[in-house]
Amino acid sequence: MKIQIINGPNLNLLGQREPGIYGSESFDAYLEQGELIDKMQQAGFFEPCDGIVLNAGAYTHTSVALHDCIRSLRCPVIEVHISNVHQREPFRHHSFLSAACKGVICGFGLDSYRLAIEALLK
Ligand code: DQA
Repeated sequence: MKIQIINGPNLNLLGQREPGIYGSESFDAYLEQGELIDKMQQAGFFEPCDGIVLNAGAYTHTSVALHDCIRSLRCPVIEVHISNVHQREPFRHHSFLSAACKGVICGFGLDSYRLAIEALLK
């Protein structure tokens, strides 16, 4: 299977950014930069892979454009968050993406990504 992991803004600072919330572990490989929606369309529409694991960072709570993009894709998208957004500030409790995604996993640290991949493999 081909699975894409796509990170939104500020997730390139994992390991250094608020380690009390996000942990001190960094991504082994720095994920390619690029316009998020272009990347999503490439991976999910023009050359669809088998699934996308998406941590859209703060765009989760703001982006109708990303919601629309996800709805147009030809593969399932799993929304992930490292932190449990529901234990945090109220503005993080709403996601514009969840309704367009196959499922949501949050609050398990970097293991959220592994759990999302396991969900896609099933
Ligand atoms: C996050 C949670 C978001 O609220 C925040 O804006 C992030 C990271 C997470 O992985 O916990 O950038 O998506």
